[in-house]
Amino acid sequence: MSDLRADLRNYVRALPKAELHLHIEGSLEPEMVFALAQKHGVKLPYATVDALRAAYDFSDLQSFLDLYYAGANVLRDEDDFHAMTAAYLRRAHADGVVHAEIFFDPQTHTDRGIDIGVVFRGITRALQDAEREFGMSSRLILCFLRHLSEEAAIKTLDAALPYKEHFVAVGLDSSEKGHPPSKFARVFERARAAGLLTVAHAGEEGPPAYIREAIDLLKVSRIDHGVRCSEDPTLVAELAASRMPLTVCPLSNVRLKVYNDMRQHNIGQLLKQGLCVTVNSDDPAYFGGYVLDNYVAIAEALDLSKAQLAQLARNSFEASFLDAASKQKWLLRIDTLAALIPR
Ligand code: ADE
Ligand code: ZN
Repeated sequence: MSDLRADLRNYVRALPKAELHLHIEGSLEPEMVFALAQKHGVKLPYATVDALRAAYDFSDLQSFLDLYYAGANVLRDEDDFHAMTAAYLRRAHADGVVHAEIFFDPQTHTDRGIDIGVVFRGITRALQDAEREFGMSSRLILCFLRHLSEEAAIKTLDAALPYKEHFVAVGLDSSEKGHPPSKFARVFERARAAGLLTVAHAGEEGPPAYIREAIDLLKVSRIDHGVRCSEDPTLVAELAASRMPLTVCPLSNVRLKVYNDMRQHNIGQLLKQGLCVTVNSDDPAYFGGYVLDNYVAIAEALDLSKAQLAQLARNSFEASFLDAASKQKWLLRIDTLAALIPR
């Protein structure tokens, strides 16, 4: 590694960061897929870990989702969910992530006959361990699969509400095109009535109109991805004025061909336009990098300054669901660190 890149990595690693767009099932590394397949006697269509990793060559969102749901099939008991979550938290901690807001897809598991309590207990135990062992805070966000019906989402919400103390928000993920936010207006309304916050994937592959729908109909606190907002300058201006956060996932966008090359990515432009953009890893086991890799990739491709990288870290706390005092604490740490660095 060049001295320049090592210096950049060290700088970004030292910046306290919140990760706000991470699918826990997307952190399941091929090695763990194989270990869990062996544990449960599941036959995989790949002979080796390398063969599985080599299959992670995607043409679009759907080609990724097909493999992502297949990989999750090895998750069977509470210890599996715990092991997957613990591995992610360890890895994120090593990257300087001090707070994580984590998506999980209960329908991927309940539709295979796994009890939702098994999923909650395994993940939650790992979150509590990380808080105790390295002071990492976290929140859990329950995502509905948008390729399934709203009725199925309502059943999932009802099954999850007995575990309400364990999650703070609901989200919307899976195949975006043809499944607009409006399809889920009623279930999101129910979630809000139960005191939950809301977020939604919008404007990843879907049009800018889906971003507007998510804001107007689902009353989201953040947009996940949202990069296609650039096609609607009025929307960009509104997002900047409202500081509506976008949880952007640069390596994901390139691996899923939203952009052909990182140099075409619009995150630097959106940052300059005053949007509250944040940097996240989405599905790091599938897209070739965790959060630090994402910061470094955009810094190099878009020639971002250290001050801009510090602003991205600041945005991650501004956009988080942490309480005001915790946000202030981390923002102050970032400012102190950034003040020491020549621009
Ligand atoms: N599920 C996991 N990752 C996703 C993504 N990037 N978009 C939509 N659904 C997902
Ligand atoms: Zn995502």
